[in-house]
Amino acid sequence: MQVTMSVNGDEVTSEIEGRLLLVHYLRDHLGLTGTHWGCDTSNCGTCVVWLDDEPVKSCTVLAAMAGGHEVRTVEGLEKGTELDPVQQGFMNCHGLQCGFCTPGMMMTARALLDRNPDPTDGEIREAISGQICRCTGYATIVRSIHWAADHERAAAAAAASGALTGDEVVERVLEEADPSGGSETPQTVGAGSES
Ligand code: FES
Ligand code: FES
Repeated sequence: MQVTMSVNGDEVTSEIEGRLLLVHYLRDHLGLTGTHWGCDTSNCGTCVVWLDDEPVKSCTVLAAMAGGHEVRTVEGLEKGTELDPVQQGFMNCHGLQCGFCTPGMMMTARALLDRNPDPTDGEIREAISGQICRCTGYATIVRSIHWAADHERAAAAAAASGALTGDEVVERVLEEADPSGGSETPQTVGAGSES
């Protein structure tokens, strides 16, 4: 069968088998290997992409079901040559070790911040509760997402006020968000940590 969809803003048309999963279509047909395939049980969440702006596990969606819809993968997070603040946050706050879970985590984080620009620890942990990280203990992932949220709020404040430079506002917001300067002991309680 033939399927046509938008992937990261580009229209693609392919001849596929009806049983093909979206995760395999993205990886094997389009070469978008940033979306990972980590389990056979729909538990790990490393395959998360957006389908019409909603995070979905692409191992639970047939490629045919994405026909006529918009798909966004981790390759589509960057804005031009600029990293998305979520990507920057994971880099700055060591939100990854092996990186296998990272694409799915970042897609979920971006969707969360688009809906809730100032999430609490609990809201972040709930958002990523369908995803498993085997490495980080989740503390640095939560910190990374907070960094992105703080950065985006600071940028918005700078743009609105014009009174401070972007760097000054970022510095101020980050100080308020983390008066310890980022030295507290990471917690190991995290969504999915039971596995
Ligand atoms: S590959 Fe594990 S949930 Fe999709
Ligand atoms: S960084 Fe290794 S699984 Fe999350």
